[in-house]
Amino acid sequence: MASTINLGLAGFGTVGSGVASILEENKDWIARRTGGDIRIKTVLVRDTAKPRKQTPPPGTRLTAEPSDLWTDPDIDIVVELMGGTGAARTLVAESLGAGKHVVTANKALLAEHGQELFALAAEKERGLYHEASVAGGIPVIAALKESLAANRIEKMVGILNGTANFILSEMTDKGQDFAAALARAQELGYAEADPTFDVEGVDAAHKLVLLIRLAYGCHYPLSSLPVTGISSIAAEDIDFAAEFGYRIKLVGQVRSVSGRIEAGVFPALLPEHYMLANVSSNFNAVRVQGNAVGPVMLYGQGAGALPTGSAVLADVLSLISYDRRPNNTGYQELVLPDADILDPELAGFNHYFRFTVADRPGVLAQLARIMAEHNISISQVIQKGEASGRRVPVVFLTHQARTREVNAAITEIDAQEFTAAPTVHYRII
Ligand SMILES: NC(=O)c1ccc[n+]([C@@H]2O[C@H](COP(=O)([O-])OP(=O)(O)OC[C@H]3O[C@@H](n4cnc5c(N)ncnc54)[C@H](OP(=O)(O)O)[C@@H]3O)[C@@H](O)[C@H]2O)c1
Repeated sequence: MASTINLGLAGFGTVGSGVASILEENKDWIARRTGGDIRIKTVLVRDTAKPRKQTPPPGTRLTAEPSDLWTDPDIDIVVELMGGTGAARTLVAESLGAGKHVVTANKALLAEHGQELFALAAEKERGLYHEASVAGGIPVIAALKESLAANRIEKMVGILNGTANFILSEMTDKGQDFAAALARAQELGYAEADPTFDVEGVDAAHKLVLLIRLAYGCHYPLSSLPVTGISSIAAEDIDFAAEFGYRIKLVGQVRSVSGRIEAGVFPALLPEHYMLANVSSNFNAVRVQGNAVGPVMLYGQGAGALPTGSAVLADVLSLISYDRRPNNTGYQELVLPDADILDPELAGFNHYFRFTVADRPGVLAQLARIMAEHNISISQVIQKGEASGRRVPVVFLTHQARTREVNAAITEIDAQEFTAAPTVHYRII
């Protein structure tokens, strides 16, 4: 590439302005690595007249016309930081089609349309780099694509959403309920006014689909991924988990089980001495288990202008210094095969159950009998009495059992006359 690299920046919000700040602040350092300048030539926004806290660098052209980026022969790399899957999809496809390299932080776009966009990038022999799309500033994409490329990945567990992690940390550390912790996250700017994507696990699911692509070289359709969020987690379960020595975290997990892929996003109990259990506040972490390297833990800031901008610029620098075909997915195939997915009903985990039952003799024995009939073996029990004496929580931890048996046991227990409220259930990892 030429000694001055021209970027077309689509989006000048949190991440776009972070990219501009780093380019300004670290200009000389970056020039030392690339041997030239990186210039933001054009910035695409929705509204060019909008007042902005930070303005694009002097000499930058501000536009609201997306084609200004892909039709400009001087622009080498289009950096997509708009978000969404509509205008962003058109911009990325048109830019690749016009022979531009593309860098994006957009996990929703790549989780939903990655198969088509990576195929287009491969056909055009252009880069479609996306380090910032998973876990913000943490270099997990490069780790899977390059540093761990010789490994078969046995298992990966990630805390992939800072907002959900902040809420669960507040609930755990300050004894708040979900609504109060969410309100605090919104007050601090960690959660959007509409927090659905973060608290219902959708954002973590987008990221997990991208990690599966890199770690296993296959396409796992977003629509097939089992996803459960954190909005129904009760303070009571956080407290019971703590009594047993666990913390509840929203995790994205994928494992290779007899050559098949078993994956999901769900709240889980993690032993409190695990490093992942100690990832607090709005931080992210990913633990990767390779068959040669063993466990590798990556930890850091999963969002924010500068951490995410750092990942975006890592991709830009990487594309500038590449002198061969860009390495978008880490695999030679132009189109990755569909994942061979294990039926989620067959997934085996240890489990946490909280039953709400009538406070009378014999109920505990009946619960244990139903569990045994479904081949679920109990490892620990807590039973608490209440002043009212009418209904009590009973908590079981179990050894490994399959989801199918667990669901059948819950259905049977919830139908008993002694059961006073639906059973609460979480996996333990
Ligand atoms: N924020 C983070 O910490 C973070 C972390 C990791 C990944 N990401 C990803 O990075 C991307 C950008 O996030 P962000 O937080 O920086 O978003 P943001 O603050 O909302 O900024 C979005 C920018 O894109 C522009 N834009 C949006 N739709 C447009 C359209 N149709 N045409 C032209 N311009 C458009 C907006 O223009 P106006 O300024 O005129 O409104 C704004 O400048 C998203 O994909 C997000 O998932 C964000």
